[in-house]
Amino acid sequence: MNTLPSYLFAPTGKDKFKEYLQKVDVSKNKTFILMDTNTKKQCLDKFVTDFPELQNADYIVVRNGEQFKTIESCQLIWKNLTDNYADRSDLLVNLGGGVITDMGSFAASVFKRGMQFCNVPTSLLAMIDAAIGGKTGVDFMGLKK
Ligand SMILES: NC(=O)c1ccc[n+]([C@@H]2O[C@H](COP(=O)([O-])OP(=O)(O)OC[C@H]3O[C@@H](n4cnc5c(N)ncnc54)[C@H](O)[C@@H]3O)[C@@H](O)[C@H]2O)c1
Repeated sequence: MNTLPSYLFAPTGKDKFKEYLQKVDVSKNKTFILMDTNTKKQCLDKFVTDFPELQNADYIVVRNGEQFKTIESCQLIWKNLTDNYADRSDLLVNLGGGVITDMGSFAASVFKRGMQFCNVPTSLLAMIDAAIGGKTGVDFMGLKK
């Protein structure tokens, strides 16, 4: 039986992303890949195989689910970046659904007044909506919006 991979890049998208990685110079700057437990399991291997430029990236993994789109998870992300001496020119790649793209973009935008980041959406909702348009954030005390 044929099954779809959990992570897909349209061929032109793949080329564009490779160009982007060259532009942000991942050979000189550090790269961090933020994932949740599911996208680590389902998407990471193929992603790094497709983009060997990222094989030395550090991983930051948070638990999956809306209940973890919180400031506490951001603190975990910031601690991980700090412990690994990240600075503004380094890159955070958000590999996941809308929770990861919302939270990762927010965390990157305030880390040392803003580090580089990009979204690699892995759910349909993130591909068509959440990862587009620049709205970012986390839930506060269980509240959205
Ligand atoms: N910023 C915006 O404009 C905007 C717009 C719409 C939604 N959102 C936000 O997006 C979130 C919802 O997005 P979502 O539905 O992607 O939620 P999600 O990120 O929680 O993903 C849903 C589940 O699918 C899993 N998953 C994601 N990609 C996978 C893959 N390729 N293979 C296997 N499992 C995978 C995740 O681990 C999670 O368990 C909400 O927090 C919402 O507020 C933001």
